Amino acid sequence: MVSSLVLVPAGFIFSLLAFRLMANYFTPGLRTIPGPFWARLSDLWRFIDACKGKHEQTIARLHDQYGPVVRIGPKCISVADPAAIDLILGFKANLDKTDSVNPMINAHEGEYLPMLISAKDSKLHARLKRPIAGAYSLSTLLSLESVSDDCINKFMGRIREEFAAAGKRTCAIDRWLHFFTFDFIGQATFSKDFGFLDAGRDVNNMIGTLDLQFLYIGTVGAMPWIDNLLLKNPLLLALIKTPNHLVEFTAERIRNRLSGREKGHPGRQDFLSRFLDAQKQHPDVVTDIQLAAYANTNVLAASDTTAAALTAIIMCLLRRRDAYVKLQAEIDSRQLEFPVSYAVAQTLPYLDAVIKEALRFFPTTGIDLERKVGPARLVLPTGQTLPAGTIVGVNPWPVHRDESVFGEDADEFNPERWMRGDSETESGFNERVRNMQRAYMTFGYGPRACLGKHIAYMEIYKLIPTLLGLYDLTLAHPNRPLNTWTGVAVKILDLDVHILERKVTK
Ligand code: HEM
Repeated sequence: MVSSLVLVPAGFIFSLLAFRLMANYFTPGLRTIPGPFWARLSDLWRFIDACKGKHEQTIARLHDQYGPVVRIGPKCISVADPAAIDLILGFKANLDKTDSVNPMINAHEGEYLPMLISAKDSKLHARLKRPIAGAYSLSTLLSLESVSDDCINKFMGRIREEFAAAGKRTCAIDRWLHFFTFDFIGQATFSKDFGFLDAGRDVNNMIGTLDLQFLYIGTVGAMPWIDNLLLKNPLLLALIKTPNHLVEFTAERIRNRLSGREKGHPGRQDFLSRFLDAQKQHPDVVTDIQLAAYANTNVLAASDTTAAALTAIIMCLLRRRDAYVKLQAEIDSRQLEFPVSYAVAQTLPYLDAVIKEALRFFPTTGIDLERKVGPARLVLPTGQTLPAGTIVGVNPWPVHRDESVFGEDADEFNPERWMRGDSETESGFNERVRNMQRAYMTFGYGPRACLGKHIAYMEIYKLIPTLLGLYDLTLAHPNRPLNTWTGVAVKILDLDVHILERKVTK
């Protein structure tokens, strides 16, 4: 009697589960698309893989094994075909984002912050973007260059004090680049930095908090319903009141600015004052909570990514000594003032080639940029048709290794790829570069592409030549394998270097 009381419900649950798994496996329209067996049954496969922190490597390997279209979840398809990028991420398609962005939405004082990057609906996204798009325009860069100069000067000074002047002390350059990008975006957004460069450490574990948040986004994004049980669960949130210092930092800056306790920089307009102007002009869209969301998005989207990109560029140079020496020679030949101005940095052809190539070879984003197929379905260049509701994503890692676009040595770091070859005609070179740029996804693509791209480029184009002009860097552990961890950005960890001040500085 007791055993039937247990066995009947257990049998019922088992049958339901088996039915669910079978239905997943045979999802109409996706059944014939190749991919790992377990991924067809449940999103758990993708979740577990993301937990291992090497998702971009898995995706690249799967495309090597199965081809350009791979099923990585019951309703989820990864595409690594340059010809499909525009169809999936482009302006014409303008497809909505998927529930995978839900875990990105922060809660503050009981309200959810409707962030630009996590707006699923394309119309909502356009509405949120309109009031503040100008704050990220090229003309804004001019006022941000002095912020960048101040932060670069501080970074170089702290590197000198802590490492170059102290002899052969090992510098975890990946950590210090994080301190730099956080402090920069703090100054650019609030005219106040996080104090990381001064302290030489992660104050209040804010970087650690963001790491956890990105891990959460990268993993729970595969099974977004888990988010309702965790961070969107009011019961759990009431029980566990762990402060998010990053969100608190932003909220405090806004409170203080509105009450007059803090002011913006007298000589330049920061993002917060631009967002406040947008509030005056578009009060229906830029509510107080939206204001906080814009400011939070800036910190979330700008800090980790730019630090990961800078670290990747330095890693590529340190592992290819000839490229390092060639770039340093180009910098020395120009008798530059430090920090190098953005205008001048853009005239250094080898620097330009190194940056483009490093961000191709080691793209910052490690997760698929996903969109939801609309009612019109999606016909891929391979001829396969994806039904409405399919989650379709493109990951920069396999796309950036496509030999038909980047050449047979696509697996290698080779800055010369971006320069005109001796036997190449000008039109042939231009056509080759145009092709590469069409498949270049480091900053995303289409209507949801990175808004802060120009700002990130300015930081990168200025910091790299300044660092290499002022210091000599070498790997402290040249034989140590590269240690990476992917939440959303692919982060290089423990990139320890020795730093020596150069004699030929100005
Ligand atoms: C090297 C550094 C950076 C990289 C690699 C990067 C990459 C990206 C990517 C791939 C996206 C698109 C995500 C998607 O399609 O779902 C994105 C969006 C975004 N990024 Fe960046 N980003 C960087 C730096 C920055 C900076 C410095 C800022 C701000 C100052 C910023 C602000 C944003 C914003 C606001 C969005 C959302 C755009 C929208 O949805 O309309 N990013 N970024």
